Amino acid sequence: MRKPLMAGNWKMNKTVPEAINVVKSLKSAVASVSGVEILICPAFTALYAVSDEIKGSNISLGAQNLFWEAKGAFTGEISLEMLKDAGCSYVIIGHSERRQHFGETDETVNKKTKAALAAGIIPVVCVGETLKEREDNVTFKVIEKQVRVGLSGISPQQASLAVIAYEPVWAIGTGKTATPDQAQEVHSFVRKIYEQMYKESAEKVRILYGGSVNPNNVSDLMKKTDIDGGLVGGASLEAESFAKLVEYSK
Ligand code: 13P
Repeated sequence: MRKPLMAGNWKMNKTVPEAINVVKSLKSAVASVSGVEILICPAFTALYAVSDEIKGSNISLGAQNLFWEAKGAFTGEISLEMLKDAGCSYVIIGHSERRQHFGETDETVNKKTKAALAAGIIPVVCVGETLKEREDNVTFKVIEKQVRVGLSGISPQQASLAVIAYEPVWAIGTGKTATPDQAQEVHSFVRKIYEQMYKESAEKVRILYGGSVNPNNVSDLMKKTDIDGGLVGGASLEAESFAKLVEYSK
């Protein structure tokens, strides 16, 4: 059985005091939740303070990016040792905003994924097609390449641990979510590709859906067989709405 994972990607939002404020309320709002794993991914600057605040709670911490080298002359970059030191157990890799604005490619996603797994940090590897790609009917081709290249060369055990997030670019921050059927179609395709790559690990890998997930549409999405959780932007920024998302099944 795959334990659902509800992850909040805060993107470039929140100062340290703002982050702590949200986390304090979230902590008490979700204190009794045990059937869903809860993850928040603040900006780098807030990681350490948030890690301190969530100690002993049921909330895990993740970063939004990493650099694969261990240390050295890489101005502006953050290593895995630094992320671990700041309390992270997860890291988002290859978000479409990083692909679009910061030159992330399937090859750099793969280097980061391998480095994260080797360091014992769980990667949340993002894939997803643009609107043009969907309209051009190349969605499956695009997703297949992103999965095959981005997640290649890992061990079967690592393949079970990794998390994949399907985020159609046209659904991110637009209020236009994929329908549960549209999402399920891609999720089951991703699992099929993964099965070809890593056999039984495909049954264990969690595949999250992301793109305008909110407290009103989460239950219908989560009913689908191959949707194992959400990667949530806007609706994760406030404790109240994120807590509602975490409690989707109630
Ligand atoms: P929204 O939930 O704001 O659409 O963002 C989705 C996303 O990009 C999460 O990584």
